[in-house]
Order: sequence, then structure tokens, then C-alpha cells
Amino acid sequence: SNNIVVAIDGYSSCGKSTLAKALAKKLQFIYVDSGAMYRAVALYFLRNDINSQDAEQVEEALKNIHLNFHSRDYETHITLNGEEVSDEIRLMPVSDKVSEVSAIKAVRREMVKQQQRMGKSKNIVMDGRDIGTTVFPNAPVKLFMTADPKVRAERRYKEIHDKNPDITLEDIFENIAHRDYADTTRTESPLVRAADAIILDNTNLTPEQQLEFALGKVEPLL
Ligand code: C5P
Repeated sequence: SNNIVVAIDGYSSCGKSTLAKALAKKLQFIYVDSGAMYRAVALYFLRNDINSQDAEQVEEALKNIHLNFHSRDYETHITLNGEEVSDEIRLMPVSDKVSEVSAIKAVRREMVKQQQRMGKSKNIVMDGRDIGTTVFPNAPVKLFMTADPKVRAERRYKEIHDKNPDITLEDIFENIAHRDYADTTRTESPLVRAADAIILDNTNLTPEQQLEFALGKVEPLL
């Protein structure tokens, strides 16, 4: 098929979704936040007390999990078995659980299958950790985003402080460091730059500059 897939991978809280959304909006592509899917699965595991080590429980859980994206204005709206969970999946209990759940082979197999289906015949921008390496290894544009971890924690802190005044900068820094470590060292599709991915270090870049950079890579293909 001749649809265009833009794969955006990178570390936690690097601004992947901000860039992916802006790019999708500008190009009128579909935006898929693959992390939201792993977060929704983690939420299900938390609520139903699923033991990640128990293969049978995991298989059974996966059969009972039905996720659905409905995009409105390029924001992520995801339902878990019909229930809107877009806000709840951003909260700390899910952020603390998600790396454990996303390391499970059966979980990844199922999510990758669903993600590949979404990018089969449409122009899409998908962000995550393994989009350029595993989900769409043939994507014509791959970006790998990174930024100084302290800068990432400060950005995330500013973003969530109003709604979550009890969470400290320290908590956020620790969660980011923990997820970087877990995501890069897991056995199943660890976070790694695809050989043909372009590195985008945005420590000192504005969102507008990042969008310009990304557009410069996609526009020649249109
Ligand atoms: O992108 P976000 O930070 O919301 O992703 C949450 C978590 O989901 C990541 O820390 C990672 O463990 C997992 N993830 C993944 N593969 C993806 C997207 C997210 O393992 N493609």
C-alpha cells in the first residue's frame, strides 16, 4: 500500500505526543498514541488485580480487554471496554504500573497486532517506544526523540502540577528515570533507536521548531 506511516519513538516525557499531534494535525494524518494502549491495559491489570507473572491470567485478561480510540481534535480519547479512561490512564498508579505490564510478551504481541491494523491503509503518525523497530519497521519516516531528563521532568511537572499539587518534581524525575531504565532494559522489544531513525534532541527546541524539523522529513514524500 502507499499510505505513509510516521514512527516517533523515544524516552518518556520527551514531547513525543506533542510533536506527533501537531504533525498529524498539520498533515491531516491520523494520530495514534500507542502508550495510551499500554496504559489502558495497565489500568485493567490494576483494577482486576491481574498477576503479570501468571501467563494464564494474562491471556484471560487480554481476551477481556477491548480498547478503542476515538480521535476528537487530535487529542487521545481511549475507551477500555466502553468506558472513557483517557484521564485516569495519566495518573500515577498507572504510570507506576505500565512498564511492568508493557514488558509482558503476550501483551506486546496483542498491542502490536492492533497497532499494525490501524496503520494498514491510512496515513498515520504513531508514537511509542518500538514503532520504528517492531510495529512499522518499514515506516518511511522514523524519528527518535530524546531530551535531558531534568528538562523532561520539569516540563512534565509544569504540565500536571495544577491538577496534581501533591506530586513533587522529585516524584516525576524518579518515575521518568525508572521508566527509561525499564523500557531500555526489557527483553521484549526494548526501547532502542532503529538504525534508520533520525535523532531529535529537543532539550533546547521549541514545539514549533520540532514541528518544522519533522515536516521537513515528511513533506518530500507527499
Ligand atoms: O508513551 P507513554 O509514556 O504514555 O507510554 C507509557 C509506557 O508504555 C512506557 O513507559 C512503556 O513502558 C510503554 N510503551 C511501550 N511501547 C510503546 C508505547 C509505550 O512499551 N510503543
